[in-house]
Amino acid sequence: MKRHAQVVGWGKYVPAKVLTNEDLARLVDTSDQWIRERTGISERRVAAPRETTATMAIQAAQEALKMADVNPARLDLIIVATATPDYAFPSVACLVQDALGASRAGAFDLAAGCSGFVYALATAAQFIQTGAYDTIMVIGAETLSRIVDWTDRNTCVLFGDGAGAVLLRPNADGGGLLSFVLGADGSGADLLILPGGGSKHPASLSTVEERLHYVKMDGREVFRFAVNVMGKAAVQAIKAANLGLGSVDLLIPHQANLRIIQSAAKFLKLPPEKVFVNLEKYGNTSAASIPIALCEAIENGRVKPGDHLVLVGFGAGLTWAAAVLKWGPVAAPVPVPWWKTAWHRMRGRLYAFRSALIRLWRRVDALLGGGREPG
Ligand code: ACO
Repeated sequence: MKRHAQVVGWGKYVPAKVLTNEDLARLVDTSDQWIRERTGISERRVAAPRETTATMAIQAAQEALKMADVNPARLDLIIVATATPDYAFPSVACLVQDALGASRAGAFDLAAGCSGFVYALATAAQFIQTGAYDTIMVIGAETLSRIVDWTDRNTCVLFGDGAGAVLLRPNADGGGLLSFVLGADGSGADLLILPGGGSKHPASLSTVEERLHYVKMDGREVFRFAVNVMGKAAVQAIKAANLGLGSVDLLIPHQANLRIIQSAAKFLKLPPEKVFVNLEKYGNTSAASIPIALCEAIENGRVKPGDHLVLVGFGAGLTWAAAVLKWGPVAAPVPVPWWKTAWHRMRGRLYAFRSALIRLWRRVDALLGGGREPG
C-alpha cells in the first residue's frame, strides 16, 4: 500500500497588529471602498518590530507539534516556504530547527512565491512516500510588510504577514496527499519581482535610491495569469487524484484577491460554501496564505474526516501549484491539557538555553584550540 503524507497537526500565527483599509487611506491615495471592491480585503496583520518570518514560523510549528503531541526530536525534516526570509542565509528552516530543538531534522527553505506552500507540501510528500522520512514539518511564513513599498498604492493594500504550519506523517489507509501539480513560467518573472538585494542588483546606495528593495508588480497581468491558471491547475490535480469535480468538498485557494478566487470557483463549478475565503482579515500573506486558511477552515468546522480538499496557489516566478488532500481521521484539534501546554513552553525555553550553551561552548572550544589542524 502506498504511503501517503497525511496532515496530523497544524498551527498558525498572525501578528497582533491590525492595519485596516482606513489606516491605509491615511498613508496613500486609496479608500476602504476601492480596496474592498477590487480585492475583498478589509484588513491585514503587520509584524511587530521584533517579529520576523522565523519567529512567526516557530510559533506556527510549535502549535502544530503541540496539537499532534509530537516531540520535536522526532522531526526528520523542516521545509519553510517563504519569499521573505530573515536572511539570504542561513535559511529560516535552520532557525526554526534550532528553536524547536529538532535535533535530528534536516532543514531548508523553498522559494516559489505564493505557490511555495503547495510546492513544499508536494516535496515533503515525496520523502514520506519513498519511506525516507516519517515526520516532516512544512511551513509557509512571510513578513511581506518589510518588502512592501508603503508609498505605492498599487501594492501596499494587498499584502499581510503571518505563518501557517502542517505536520506530516505517513498514512497507508488511502488518505493524505493524493495528487499535486506544480507549474512555472519564468517568462513572467518581471511581472512580480523584488529586484534589489540579490546577485543581479546587490544592495547599494543606488538600489536604495531606486527603491529596488520593494515589491514591483504588474497587477493587471498577474491578475490575468491567476484567473487563467488557478482553475486549470485545480482540475489537473483533481484528475490526477482520479476524482471528479463533484468530489471536491472544499477548495482552499491562495488568498490574493476575492475576484480571482470567485473566477476559479466558477471554473470549477463550486458553490460558495465549498470555497474557503479569509482574505478579508489577512490580505495576501503569500506562502502563508494557504496553511493559515487551512487552519481556519478546520477551526471553523469546515473540514470533516474523509473530505477531499483542493489547495491551489499562484505567484511570483511565475508559478502555480495545486494539490488534493484526503482529510484523515484527525479532523478536530484534540484539547491539550494545561500541563502539556506548560511543558511545551518550558521545552522551548530549554532548547533556547541549550542553543546558547552550544554557542558558548563553540567559543570556548575555539579559545582552547579545538578543531585546529594537527601539527
Ligand atoms: N486605491 C485606489 N485606486 C487604485 C489603487 C488603490 N489601492 N491601486 C490601483 N488603483 C487605481 C489604478 O491606478 C488604476 O487607475 P487608472 O485607471 O487611472 O490607471 C485603477 O485603480 C484601476 O487599476 P487596475 O490595475 O485596473 O485595477 P484592478 O481591478 O486590476 O485591481 C489589483 C488591481 C487589485 C492589484 C488586481 O490587479 C490584482 O489583484 N492583481 C493580482 C495581484 C496579485 O494577486 N498579486 C500577488 C501574486 S502572489 C505572490 O507571489 C506575492
